[in-house]
Amino acid sequence: MFNNTKKKHLEKRYLNIIKKPLPKHIGIILDGNGRWAKKRGLPRIMGHAAGIKRIEAIIPEVKRLGVEVLTLFVFSTENWDRPDEEVNFLMNEAEKIYTRMLSRVKELGYNVRIIGEVPKEKHELATKIKELNELGNNEESFTLCIAFNYGSRPELIQATKNIGKMIKDGLLDVEDINEQLIDDNLYTKGLPPVDLMIRTSGEMRISNFLLWQISYAELYFPKIYWPDFDCSALYEAIENYQKRNRRFGKIGEEDA
Ligand code: IPE
Ligand code: MG
Repeated sequence: MFNNTKKKHLEKRYLNIIKKPLPKHIGIILDGNGRWAKKRGLPRIMGHAAGIKRIEAIIPEVKRLGVEVLTLFVFSTENWDRPDEEVNFLMNEAEKIYTRMLSRVKELGYNVRIIGEVPKEKHELATKIKELNELGNNEESFTLCIAFNYGSRPELIQATKNIGKMIKDGLLDVEDINEQLIDDNLYTKGLPPVDLMIRTSGEMRISNFLLWQISYAELYFPKIYWPDFDCSALYEAIENYQKRNRRFGKIGEEDA
């Protein structure tokens, strides 16, 4: 009975949310897996296992709202410095997930895109990522973008190199460098800018995540750890976003 009431309440919130303008692109820095586990006296990898379950549960919820893109920051270029056991666990899980996705890529009901540096020393993983990026574009209305071995600065360096090369080869004039060109040379090419950036666990940092793409994003820092980020927490983030007054550097209507 209690569960039923809770479900009805969530459905009411869902219906209210979809009536209002939604963020087209949500970016999430998943944080707090380790602390979630520690609080329960469990090893850190158990926190990651719980975090992966959360990822799987939240994808269909975001898709159902009609959001176009969800980018999840699951592994940063700096995360390699964690203990071997933890890195190995995360790499093995990533490979399992990518393999599972590939085996039914056409039935997923969404596009998959993996952005970041290709982990060169991990051949199997690199191959899976390449295949997913080739086969994952199914022209669906929802895109799941996974930031894996990702860092915004390496991404910007790579874009700068591409542009520099075009100029050197005589294909581009320096004066023609504009925002669109930079957009087109990022891993996120073709995706809309981030409207809502969420970081769980109470940390208020960007940590090298989509620096260019979050220029006008609304930032939201819920205190809960990622493995606790359920449908209600997702709705709370969007309800909060829908109350914000986005001005993009202009003045608000009420101030005119
Ligand atoms: C986020 O949780 C998951 C990854 C970056 C892979 P953390 O592992 O950073 O959890 P805390 O910050 O130690 O609690
Ligand atoms: Mg952390």
